[in-house]
Amino acid sequence: MQDPETVRWMAIELPYTIEDAEGFIAGTESAWTEKRAAHLVIADGDDHLIGYLGVLSVEEEMRVVEIGYWVSAAHRGRGFATDALRTAVAWAESELRPERIELGMLAGNERSRRVAEKAGFVFDRSEPSGKLLDGKSVAEWIFSLERGRP
Ligand SMILES: CC(C)(COP(=O)(O)OP(=O)(O)OC[C@H]1O[C@@H](n2cnc3c(N)ncnc32)[C@H](O)[C@@H]1OP(=O)(O)O)[C@@H](O)C(=O)NCCC(=O)NCCS
Repeated sequence: MQDPETVRWMAIELPYTIEDAEGFIAGTESAWTEKRAAHLVIADGDDHLIGYLGVLSVEEEMRVVEIGYWVSAAHRGRGFATDALRTAVAWAESELRPERIELGMLAGNERSRRVAEKAGFVFDRSEPSGKLLDGKSVAEWIFSLERGRP
């Protein structure tokens, strides 16, 4: 949450403190048991943190879910986000069986767009994000993956 790209594209409000991080982590278990979100760690074989991927409920009980992710700066460009996204989609389809899986990103996030497209998502629509990028309102691009797609 100190990395400029993550702060920019995930519209993180600064300062983001250790207490904020601990509060987030403390809430992850109840988010899962209450079917609000699955917050997942992307790790290497030795359990070192590479990134994060969240499957968030958009409609009740995860009937429609939205995925978001980040990869730490030191690990970018090696396919980790794409791999994690493909794995999370397969997991969500078998565990949650949602009607629809969506992926949202702020307009202009070309790296994330590439990740989405490599994992089989297609652009669906653009809508207001309610967030600011460089001090200006920015749209959110929504990509989707219908259940049952290859
Ligand atoms: C977006 C992000 C998760 C990608 O992680 P990653 O592990 O580097 O992604 P991958 O290696 O799987 O794929 C990145 C792709 O983007 C491409 N890419 C890199 N820079 C690019 C650019 N400026 N424009 C277009 N594509 C770009 C890479 O070439 C690669 O595609 P390829 O395999 O066809 O060559 C990472 O950059 C990140 O954490 N960014 C900050 C947070 C963020 O934007 N999260 C997404 C919001 S939901």
